[in-house]
Amino acid sequence: MPAPTPASTPAPWWRDAVFYQVYVRSFADSDGDGLGDLPGITSRLRYLRDLGVDAVWITPFYPSPQHDAGYDVADYRDVDPRFGRLSDVDDLLTRAHRLGLRVVVDLVPNHTSSDHPWFRAALAARPGAAERARYLFRQGRGRRGDRPPNNWESVFGGPAWSRVEDGEWYLHLFDTSQPDLDWRNPEVPAMFDDVLRFWLDRGVDGFRVDVAHGLFKVASLRDQRGVTHGGDLPSDREDRAMVERTVRDEPMWDQPEVHEVYRSWRRLLEQYDGDRMAVAEAWTQTPESMARYVRRDELHQAFNFAWLLAPWSAEAFAEVVRGTLAAVAPVGAAPTWVLSNHDVVRHPTRYGGGPRGLARARAATLTMLALPGSAYLYQGEELGLEEVDVPPESRQDPYWFRTGKPGRDGARVPIPWRGSRPPYGFGPAGTTPWLPMPDDWAALTVGRQRKDPDSTWTFYRDALRARRRWATCGEVEIVEGRRTVLHLRRGDLTVVCNCGSRPVRLPAGEIVQASGPLHGDLLPPDTAVWLV
Ligand code: GLC
Ligand code: MG
Repeated sequence: MPAPTPASTPAPWWRDAVFYQVYVRSFADSDGDGLGDLPGITSRLRYLRDLGVDAVWITPFYPSPQHDAGYDVADYRDVDPRFGRLSDVDDLLTRAHRLGLRVVVDLVPNHTSSDHPWFRAALAARPGAAERARYLFRQGRGRRGDRPPNNWESVFGGPAWSRVEDGEWYLHLFDTSQPDLDWRNPEVPAMFDDVLRFWLDRGVDGFRVDVAHGLFKVASLRDQRGVTHGGDLPSDREDRAMVERTVRDEPMWDQPEVHEVYRSWRRLLEQYDGDRMAVAEAWTQTPESMARYVRRDELHQAFNFAWLLAPWSAEAFAEVVRGTLAAVAPVGAAPTWVLSNHDVVRHPTRYGGGPRGLARARAATLTMLALPGSAYLYQGEELGLEEVDVPPESRQDPYWFRTGKPGRDGARVPIPWRGSRPPYGFGPAGTTPWLPMPDDWAALTVGRQRKDPDSTWTFYRDALRARRRWATCGEVEIVEGRRTVLHLRRGDLTVVCNCGSRPVRLPAGEIVQASGPLHGDLLPPDTAVWLV
């Protein structure tokens, strides 16, 4: 007799999971050296379970000179002693899994650190040697070869090429300490296959793929056409407000060959049990190009940065929802949503800061949490933290050093756990955090907010609970999204977000969650609500 086939296979865990991004350096410091660490994370996993997230994404903790906060990896298969040891990863995984939390780690395949043994060997070798062929070394232009091989600029500002002593240049799309690998060299994909297996064998549930749209560059390394401005990381406040609408010539990004890598990683992930997954950080230029990373035989998810780049506007939000759903539908992928991460200005600040910025941030979050697919939260947003104005002498972002613009440190300040003074329980008393923590964060600590029914923390916990109950099925219908109000329907749920300046009448229904206080049957400005 043939075995009975189940009516439908349950959706994999990641499809509608809420992920919480832990920025290792700034989450919890167990040993008082001022840097967060793996034992610190393990000691706070219960906190994440109580908050109600499903999975944790941990930023790089591998051995690294830390020129780009760990996104410059010197050894892909070990732990930086500042963050712990391999056995701390094992403890973290065991404890997380026992609490029902999944764990995703960061994978940085576009570049290594200049301290990686491969790059050291490349520097020690001569031009043309096999050791150089794992990176992109080239002769310069001009009679003396003293001009860079092409006109590309680093995302962190300045030329994307640096010259070594014997006169050759190497490509680094980020900092000089982050040489780009040559993915056309078969040694490179072979090494990363081993790295994936190494962490999968230890039990991680998946990977966040850094700069997933990088890896391959146009083979000729030709000039970029129509270069008008420096790097494209939306890093300082003015630049981040500008959303590029036109498609630029980008011979260094989003090349067709990259998709073959993700097809092979998909096959590799599928050799493991437990629905292991990967999410691409791909700053591609259109929703359609983003969707190519999540075709059925490629990666499982890609960050959808559209909302994070959108202004506070019902019309813009409606367009983001419509555009995203339309882009992923043809490839059958689940969408993802994100409002903040360690590379952008925190969303309460983007929305104007102060009480109004926070009200808007909560409203946008509640609206996002109603949508199908998965949501990514960034540590500290559940506390309503704002971007911090880090004093110039304390800044550490390579972007700041290369451009003189503030950079990303303001979103990376350690989070306050308890007490009335820095380090607010981030580390043992007397700890000097790697970035200074503001003096006025006493009211924002986890300890204070957990006791307050109106706090942002309580709002996040309640919204995540409500999401499990009300926002897990049904297609999205945009009822209104042209003027100042975004009105969505999903299954039994109605979502209204008031982006205007006047209160609006609520539609009929029972309120199951609101982002802020309501006035009778009126929805105040900068507020969102869920009704059934
Ligand atoms: C990604 C990371 C960012 C890092 C860059 C280079 O964009 O999110 O923090 O600086 O890649 O690895
Ligand atoms: Mg520490």
